[in-house]
Amino acid sequence: MKLLRAPIISNNEIAPAIWVLWLQAPEIAAAAEPGQFVMVETGDGYDPLLKRAFSVFRVSGDDSAAPERLGLLYTPSGRGSSRTARRRPGESVEIIGPLGRGYNVPPQARNLLMVAGGVGIAPIAFLAERAIAKGRSVTILQGGASAQQLFPGQELPPEVELVTATLDGSAGRQGLVTDMVPEHLDWADQVFACGPMAMYRTLAGQLPRLPSRKQCQVLLETPMACGFGLCYTCAVETRRGTKLVCKEGPCFDLREIDWEALP
Ligand code: FES
Repeated sequence: MKLLRAPIISNNEIAPAIWVLWLQAPEIAAAAEPGQFVMVETGDGYDPLLKRAFSVFRVSGDDSAAPERLGLLYTPSGRGSSRTARRRPGESVEIIGPLGRGYNVPPQARNLLMVAGGVGIAPIAFLAERAIAKGRSVTILQGGASAQQLFPGQELPPEVELVTATLDGSAGRQGLVTDMVPEHLDWADQVFACGPMAMYRTLAGQLPRLPSRKQCQVLLETPMACGFGLCYTCAVETRRGTKLVCKEGPCFDLREIDWEALP
């Protein structure tokens, strides 16, 4: 884990309300794994006081063996992320990372099914890129409210099979992204997901169809004040006791989560 000031390389809207912030942060980019996150200063001085968590979306560099740049994908919605969208190259932000425990891909898993809701595509895209580089097969199920809110498929490795669903039917199949999961479960050796809690609850209802040897790994999102185990704002109840999402997650097996105890 490093704390540093990272110069902004670029900060652009790549699709409606989907932004990518590229930072020069070699120490963090070289160590980041899919599913990990960084805490980023979003304001000036003390407003807002706390850093905000961003999933790592991508790393890159001239020498891919030692990436130097860190890409973060976000939607400007709250106060912090809206301020981030106003940042320009030449400025810098303080960041801490990489943080947390990311996805764990078992060595024997060949066929990876990934489910992304909204900007949950950020860590999924990173995971897909790493999996394809290791010769694995990847299918991504991506969902959004409408075609405009989908992550552009051309930004993913061409080997990925991308299947989309939108609520209004303006792209792909009409309905929820989770509607498409059951038909892919036999093919998948492992399932990985990132999206809102409602999506995870639906996935949990589909788990009885997934053999117990296959995991469904999800990234939990909770309020986080510190990001590294000091403040306990991110504590969640699991079937193995109370866990800190920032330190013992954010990746959990969906079967571990105690849905009754979650808000
Ligand atoms: Fe502070 Fe997890 S965010 S302990």
